[in-house]
Amino acid sequence: MTTLSTIPSQLNVGLMGLGVVGTGVASILLNKQESLAGVTGRPVNLKKVLVRDLTRPRVIDLPDDLLTTNAEDILADPDIHILVEVMGGVDPAESYMKQGLAAGKHVVTANKEVMAKSGPELLALARKNEASLLFEASVGGGIPIVGCLMNELAANDVISIRGIINGTTNYILTAMAQHGTSFQQALGEAQSHGYAEADPTNDIEGIDAAYKLTILASLAYRSRFQPDDVYREGISKLEPQDFQYAQELGFAIKSLAIANLEEGAVQLRVYPALLPTEHMLAKVDGVYNAVEIDGSLCGQVLFHGMGAGREPTTSAVVGDLIEAARKMGAQHASPLYINEGTTNVPVRSIDDLESRYYIRLAVADRPGVLAKIAKVLGDGQISIASVLQKDVHPETESAELVITTHPAKEAPVQKALQAIAGLEEVRRVSNTLRIEE
Ligand SMILES: NC(=O)c1ccc[n+]([C@@H]2O[C@H](COP(=O)([O-])OP(=O)(O)OC[C@H]3O[C@@H](n4cnc5c(N)ncnc54)[C@H](OP(=O)(O)O)[C@@H]3O)[C@@H](O)[C@H]2O)c1
Repeated sequence: MTTLSTIPSQLNVGLMGLGVVGTGVASILLNKQESLAGVTGRPVNLKKVLVRDLTRPRVIDLPDDLLTTNAEDILADPDIHILVEVMGGVDPAESYMKQGLAAGKHVVTANKEVMAKSGPELLALARKNEASLLFEASVGGGIPIVGCLMNELAANDVISIRGIINGTTNYILTAMAQHGTSFQQALGEAQSHGYAEADPTNDIEGIDAAYKLTILASLAYRSRFQPDDVYREGISKLEPQDFQYAQELGFAIKSLAIANLEEGAVQLRVYPALLPTEHMLAKVDGVYNAVEIDGSLCGQVLFHGMGAGREPTTSAVVGDLIEAARKMGAQHASPLYINEGTTNVPVRSIDDLESRYYIRLAVADRPGVLAKIAKVLGDGQISIASVLQKDVHPETESAELVITTHPAKEAPVQKALQAIAGLEEVRRVSNTLRIEE
């Protein structure tokens, strides 16, 4: 634990991980020493770097004695004041963070999974040990959203958060919208450009976005949420026609992460949705991220920028490192950012969502089909806003119907969709998407 009387004349950093992000951080620590000393008030020295494989070729030249495969070289060194965890994964990253905090080291992390699952415990440990735990890079890469929710926007009651917080899915959806490509083609392209991993599940199924939304919502509502509280749908069911019809109706399709407070409960959801093309978030393309916060005092604030990649993420990690360095010796515990107990703001079920819907159906090309579908919807108190009839396929005698609804409750809509799928004239309920206003 650092006290005023023990503020070191030089700050030593232990870096855990030398991959995409770690290399960027190491490069700044080695090449920007003067500027770092200027903003932190003392020299900042990279003392040890933990990796898995010492023989792996590195894109950065480091002094030979800097690399280690032994975490104890960082954790057990009392002269290392700040631990930067950019290894990823839960095990052993979380345990190293805990050991670092328990030893009074300040910890900076980019690890969304650990922060989403165990952030409150880690923050409690940081408070207990009068250490900082900073995690700006865990959401939105170079976009300063975490710090803003903790500090600059903290006076607000947050009404809603809406964001595009996964660059890989946004890249895929942009390619599908702009080039009419299939999901598989767009995913292959994202992989060949290095935007998607060999196993893209976490991105395309919304798991990564759910981790990030959990972190943002926990900060915004000062409550404890878990990734499992997030209702989640992936993007793999989208087809090129959805983008074409959405465009005809005046909408873009984006994978959105949404948290909103209604009647004292928070609803958390990640899914592809239709957004009016003139909406700011509809214009966020490619690997870019954006987050819109609606606050009781600040109104709507939009953050936009590069949500991943070496340099943007390094910007967030080194920014946190500077903050931790500046706080050293301040002799106060970390503020309470999240309620560290169990959830105190209830989570609202997706069944209670009220939304407009886009429904695409393959139906028999016969008179009276639309009337039957309209009756099922009407029975569920769901009123139709518009209907497009598309692509009659003579060989299968089927047509495509695209229906948009006025606002309706999720549970009756799902029930009506089941009934519609059971109609003899309906070949397939091809897709159902929610429409965000
Ligand atoms: N990449 C991005 O754009 C980005 C953006 C925002 C947040 N993040 C987060 O930043 C973190 C790091 O991501 P990354 O893309 O930099 O990962 P990465 O390229 O895979 O690098 C991981 C590094 O950690 C080391 N490592 C992993 N497990 C280890 C272990 N058990 N013991 C010792 N060293 C270990 C690896 O060592 P070797 O090199 O020897 O294999 C490697 O240097 C993750 O939490 C990620 O979610 C990344």
